[in-house]
Amino acid sequence: MDEERIGSFLLESKTSWEEESACFVVDSRKLVENINALKTFLKGEVVYSYKTNPDLRVAEIVSSQGCGFLFSSVEELENISKLACFEKNKNIFQSPSLTKKQFLTIREIGITRFVVDSQDQLNLMLENMDGNEVIELLIRINTGIKVNNPELSYGEDSFLGFPLSEAIEVLKKLNPLREEGKIRLGIHNHLISQNTYLDMWGKNTQTMADFVDDLKKESITIDVVDFGGGYPVEYFHIIPELSDIGRIIYKAQTRMTSAFPNLKYVFEPGRKLVGESVTLIGKIAHIKKFHDTQVAVLSCSLYNCSIDTLIVGLFLPVIKLDYKKDNNKLKKEIYVIRGSTPDSLDIFSRGVDLPQLKSGDYLAFLHAGAYSFGSDFISLSKPKHLIV
Ligand SMILES: Cc1ncc(COP(=O)(O)O)c(C=O)c1O
Repeated sequence: MDEERIGSFLLESKTSWEEESACFVVDSRKLVENINALKTFLKGEVVYSYKTNPDLRVAEIVSSQGCGFLFSSVEELENISKLACFEKNKNIFQSPSLTKKQFLTIREIGITRFVVDSQDQLNLMLENMDGNEVIELLIRINTGIKVNNPELSYGEDSFLGFPLSEAIEVLKKLNPLREEGKIRLGIHNHLISQNTYLDMWGKNTQTMADFVDDLKKESITIDVVDFGGGYPVEYFHIIPELSDIGRIIYKAQTRMTSAFPNLKYVFEPGRKLVGESVTLIGKIAHIKKFHDTQVAVLSCSLYNCSIDTLIVGLFLPVIKLDYKKDNNKLKKEIYVIRGSTPDSLDIFSRGVDLPQLKSGDYLAFLHAGAYSFGSDFISLSKPKHLIV
């Protein structure tokens, strides 16, 4: 964790955020650095999973680096399609609940690539294809691999995609349409977010490569393999290097390319692309002592910026924002950090060791850029993103 670098970056840029806290501060240089790392280590097209952080200025930076977007709702797509940077052909749409009306709207905006999650959805797309443009259908496959993630509660059954035995039948039926040039065909997979297990990366991608071999044996041809997201960010535990994950995936790609030499590859990072470049800054409204516990009460709430703390137990690393090397020598206390609402669950951190705090101090929650969504609880509004 690069606490020291982030601490000095935030102090140097204090004038841009101090009037705004609570706020999210985006380190645009770090964002671009991470996009480039993903482009280096993942061998194929990088499409940003937009639901990870829908801030429009973040989106513009992502787009300026040549990435398209993975959209999951028409509303998301409509927001981005108004931007000057919008390029129709770089995007993918996925939603397991897609309706005919939505499909037609999305087609009208010019999107041609779709993840297919069920037979019903596939029928809907085939019945409503206009025939003017070749659309790309990425059949979402579920490898059946389960990940037991003790750190964060991802990896339960998602019920998304087709089991492999069904997927092969679906692809067999679509193969003639592909041969007629009416569609392009691919497979899509996303195992879990924050996949910190190299063995699981290996097992999942090799199962995908076995599946591609099975397609070849059945004389079914595909044009694209989409490996989804899951590239992890460091919170409290050490995570594997992106380069190691990239190498594991590339091993599977090599097998796939030997089956289909013209195969194209797509990756859909969200968390790793944006997570580490964003810091959530909260100002301490009050300090109170509750029996023996020191409690810092913040100006923001889990309910307007960090609901994943409640959903998957994602607690973000936190530092006091006058972070200096000498902080280590300052007297420290153990704190509970409460959010701003009178809700018993609104707790950002428990038992954190921080230099003595007082009201008016700033706390910085690190690597806060991914899934930092909120709710309308007690009419709170979401803290702004400030690009620095
Ligand atoms: C289909 C798909 N692709 C990509 C992602 C991005 O995942 P991550 O943020 O873990 O990289 C998600 C996230 O849930 C997803 O559902």
